[in-house]
Amino acid sequence: MLAIILPVILLMFGLWGPPQLWKTIREVIQGPKKHHDYFSVEHAAYSYAQYRTLALAEVTAMRNSYVKLSRAHKRIGYDLGYPAKLRTLEELTALNAHVTDAIADLAHSEHPGLAEAASGDLGRVRETLKHFVRDWSTEGAAERAAILTPVLDVLRRVPPARRAEMRVLVPGAGLGRLAWEISELGFDTTANELSAFMTRALRFLLAPHTTARAEQHTLHPYAYWFSHQRSSAALFRGVRFPDVLPRLGPRLRLAEGDFLAHRGAYDVLATLFFVDTAINAIATLEHIYALLRPGGTWINLGPLLWPGGAQARVELSLDEVLRLAEMVGFEIEGEGGRPVEAEALRRRSVRCEYTGDSQAMMKYMYDAEFWVARKPV
Ligand SMILES: C[S@@+](CC[C@H](N)C(=O)[O-])C[C@H]1O[C@@H](n2cnc3c(N)ncnc32)[C@H](O)[C@@H]1O
Repeated sequence: MLAIILPVILLMFGLWGPPQLWKTIREVIQGPKKHHDYFSVEHAAYSYAQYRTLALAEVTAMRNSYVKLSRAHKRIGYDLGYPAKLRTLEELTALNAHVTDAIADLAHSEHPGLAEAASGDLGRVRETLKHFVRDWSTEGAAERAAILTPVLDVLRRVPPARRAEMRVLVPGAGLGRLAWEISELGFDTTANELSAFMTRALRFLLAPHTTARAEQHTLHPYAYWFSHQRSSAALFRGVRFPDVLPRLGPRLRLAEGDFLAHRGAYDVLATLFFVDTAINAIATLEHIYALLRPGGTWINLGPLLWPGGAQARVELSLDEVLRLAEMVGFEIEGEGGRPVEAEALRRRSVRCEYTGDSQAMMKYMYDAEFWVARKPV
């Protein structure tokens, strides 16, 4: 009955037109889709579930663009293998979707009754897929070595026998490789992360029924952006992951949620590409300080890429961040006339990438800053 009456009513009110009509009918029957927090499980799970549809829509758009070529140019495109290249893109997108669907399914099984979000974010899903390469593949080893080694070298100075009783927090842990490496050194480690895009993907690695063995999964993470590629083989290459099998346990915990709401007492906080993601850098540094026990250590490595669009309350330069750290109460190794205790602790710039494509013709390089600071006893 509703199906007959509703279109008549909509016609009367001038809402006819297929997209508008179906949207309105769906909203009358189901209620409007809710807008969830950007980093919520709802939004992340929906985005992973929508990956296939959204990414394949892009392939269709590329194909529609290609067919606008003249007959003669289409002939050349054919000889170059371009239509076949688009077919490969379609096939690899469908293969990637095995991983993104599995992440979405896991989120739904861990959160029964999860509502649908209003829209999915394809770009954010693709960024997370590249994090699998950076954090958990052999291909990502060189990028990891540049950024993890300085942090881990500080922690290696702690005698192994003392490590198990020391608590380490990694705020904004992303896909968790740094936290896992620290736990493997023997520390009692907690990875804290706000974004469900990250935590859902990490849980996919941590759960034995979704990831049972090393190198189980394959992704084609660069198969969407045709720019800066030397060959189709490079563009379409598959990357296997994880290179090692991470598991939660007494030495590695996951604390999902906002770092600023996290409570506890830690001996070490390790921040990697994190402090500049803060809306309020002052609150973030104060909270790092508050979570440390007297005598505790803050290890930082990262750039200063503040949230854009005037979202950040303050957008500080490096010298301002270092001054802020001292105003909060930290003593930075080797600063303020204090001698540096060991080379591994010296403040320095670290040239590095962030989820870069190692084979691409273009690189984003950071001169990230590394420092070690102490909360006085
Ligand atoms: C640039 S990413 C770096 C991730 C990870 N440290 C790495 O190097 O791969 C910053 C991370 O911090 C997380 N983050 C930002 N603000 C946060 C907060 N208030 N609490 C917890 N995590 C946060 C983001 O979700 C994101 O995963």
